[in-house]
Amino acid sequence: MDAFDAIRTRRAVRTYTDAPIDDALLDRLLQMALVAPSGSGAQAWSILVVRGGERRRRIADLVIDGAGEYFARMRPAADGITPEAHLAWARDYAQTTLATYRLAPIWILGVLVPRDNYPESMREGGAIDDLLSLGFAMENLFIAARAEGLGTVPTTAFQRFAKDELREIVGLPPEIDPAIITPLGTPPAFPEGLPPALKSMRRPWRTLVHDETWGNPRAS
Ligand SMILES: Cc1cc2nc3c(=O)[nH]c(=O)nc-3n(C[C@H](O)[C@H](O)[C@H](O)COP(=O)(O)O)c2cc1C
Repeated sequence: MDAFDAIRTRRAVRTYTDAPIDDALLDRLLQMALVAPSGSGAQAWSILVVRGGERRRRIADLVIDGAGEYFARMRPAADGITPEAHLAWARDYAQTTLATYRLAPIWILGVLVPRDNYPESMREGGAIDDLLSLGFAMENLFIAARAEGLGTVPTTAFQRFAKDELREIVGLPPEIDPAIITPLGTPPAFPEGLPPALKSMRRPWRTLVHDETWGNPRAS
């Protein structure tokens, strides 16, 4: 699969099998992540690879529970439904839709590691650069995984409700942020295209490209 196809067909994968992943392949994927560009060359990141059964199970549970909290806040409650019933629906929905996260053989945590790389006057911009750089590294991993038929899903919101617990599971000190995490595994079938609700929200690409000056979306 060439780079264009891997980028075009990468999808957020939320269904996994327990098929194992070869160590040598995993190493190749990690190396692809870590050749990503990094602002000021700071490499203010690390990747934590979790393969141990108990730790993996705890991370999957934490993410699925967090997804329940996320859906409760992000999805509107149906008419006439009490807040308690809405929360119960959201939790159940997360448990049902993400149940196979417990099967994925690997969890990858993309963590932000402060490198004290910037003077005070550059610190705010530096923090943004560090986060962007971690995003680039993870995207490299996602594309490389896709090229090998493996699924991932960038996850930043579902662990937000329990970051300290996540830190505890993998022994991260408080200053290190598990900003983005993903299962890594084999989907039963690779999802093709976006689900209808997301597809209908997708803006035509030309409307997101402006030529020369702002306000000139590319003509069709
Ligand atoms: C910054 C960022 C954060 C995301 N956080 C989550 C998340 O917490 N949980 C999740 O299931 N998907 C998450 N996603 C995946 C998006 O929902 C997904 O990429 C989007 O719906 C488009 O689908 P696609 O990746 O298949 O093209 C995130 C994506 C990005 C870029």
